[in-house]
Amino acid sequence: MIVVRTKSVEETEKLGSIIGKFLRPKDVVALVGDLGAGKTALTRGIAKGMGIKEYVVSPTFTIINFYKGVVPFVHVDAYRVESEEELEEAGFSDFLDECAVVVEWADKVKNLLPDSSLWIDIYPVDTIEREFRIYGKTPLMSIIQKELMQN
Ligand SMILES: Nc1ncnc2c1ncn2[C@@H]1O[C@H](COP(=O)(O)OP(=O)(O)OP(=O)(O)O)[C@@H](O)[C@H]1O
Ligand SMILES: [Mg+2]
Repeated sequence: MIVVRTKSVEETEKLGSIIGKFLRPKDVVALVGDLGAGKTALTRGIAKGMGIKEYVVSPTFTIINFYKGVVPFVHVDAYRVESEEELEEAGFSDFLDECAVVVEWADKVKNLLPDSSLWIDIYPVDTIEREFRIYGKTPLMSIIQKELMQN
């Protein structure tokens, strides 16, 4: 497990961009954390790191947002998703092959996520500090660890 703490939205976005830089099609980042933990802030950074120019907003009402890019990017918010079937019906699996995917509230749809997903649990330390616990059976782990040591 990699544990990182940030003390502002900007630092969280920076952490996201470090991760986003290395995402390729089929990579899934699974975010878990309560309301206001910083899932969308991290996602914004990830999109930035991937070179996505558009401003990323939470897809709470649309479930899935798609962004064009060298590597296409898909942002899922499972907060209002009632079942894994509902996300499947929204076309989730069709994106997995060609896109990098970030899922907020990933624990609600975990049976749809690949075993190689990169999991990030986010915990509030206090009003401005957040702890990110990053884990998973993916080559991204060692790549991110190496990159974080250089930052
Ligand atoms: N270190 C930090 N990193 C990120 N956000 C922080 C941090 N400190 C405070 N915040 C605040 O926490 C909130 C994070 O909001 P964000 O929308 O990213 O959370 P979320 O996990 O996506 O919530 P939701 O479950 O509603 O989608 C913002 O209001 C932000 O200002
Ligand atoms: Mg959010």
